[in-house]
Amino acid sequence: MDRYGVIGHPIRHSRSPDIHRHFALLTGQHLSYERIEGTLDGFESEVVRFFAAGGLGLNVTLPFKERAFALAALHSPRARVAHAANTLGVTPEGTLWADNTDGEGLVRDMTLNLGVTLEGSRVLILGAGGAARGIVQPLLEAGIVQLDIANRTLVRAQTLVRELESLPSAVSCRAFSWPDIPAQAYEVVINATSTAVAGDLPPLPAALFDQRTLAYDLGYGKGPTPFLKLAGQAGAGRTEDGLGMLVEQAAESFYLWRGIRPPSAEVLRALRAACH
Ligand code: ATR
Repeated sequence: MDRYGVIGHPIRHSRSPDIHRHFALLTGQHLSYERIEGTLDGFESEVVRFFAAGGLGLNVTLPFKERAFALAALHSPRARVAHAANTLGVTPEGTLWADNTDGEGLVRDMTLNLGVTLEGSRVLILGAGGAARGIVQPLLEAGIVQLDIANRTLVRAQTLVRELESLPSAVSCRAFSWPDIPAQAYEVVINATSTAVAGDLPPLPAALFDQRTLAYDLGYGKGPTPFLKLAGQAGAGRTEDGLGMLVEQAAESFYLWRGIRPPSAEVLRALRAACH
């Protein structure tokens, strides 16, 4: 059977095996998908061993995404911007390639599942760490006109914006420190800080949100995240968590490996039902 898996540390809470097995069932693909507990000092050799034993693809999660990128010989443009990979595979010649499907997963969740029009919209990303890097390149290609990145540590946002400015894109990009976030309404505000799991978000101008705003948290959990609560109270017309992105980034990986798009909306509905 064709072998796939997800490697991370810790890995026991990963939902990827359920999602990919569901995809395989719905598309009639015969494959196995396992959880692999990576080790901090042995990650590279564990990946090499997996592929040497005939494995066809790996998803990579925390804390190994940067190391997965560094290990591969071939990199997609979106993985290059991310400096990180969540998907590994091998070419027919056996060369290890790295891709990052997080941003495409986010864009597909927003446009296909949530029915949001990104064309012409102004987008604010809160955070400039690994999660933000993972989503920016596909966003730039989604027809948006403005991408603002605000971060507690300004220099990280500035560095990311400088890299984006070197890409062939007509989107205007700006960096802000938290207190300087423009008090204007955006069509989309994305929380890419790690505050969904740890810590409180510093105050945000209420003017960021109006009835047309989609507030989107890359994180998810039981009930609304602190960011989504805050955005809803501040008047955001719509608040959504990152469960849809989780399923869509998996669907994009599945597509890269198998050449087939799984019915992701159906899997997302099942996952949401299981979460409530
Ligand atoms: P990840 O891979 O989850 O993005 P990361 O690369 O460590 O993790 O980045 C975490 C992001 O959340 C950063 O943008 C961080 O801001 P700094 O660059 O200033 O550290 C942001 N972050 C974490 N805790 C935060 C908090 N309490 N308030 C605001 N931003 C926070």
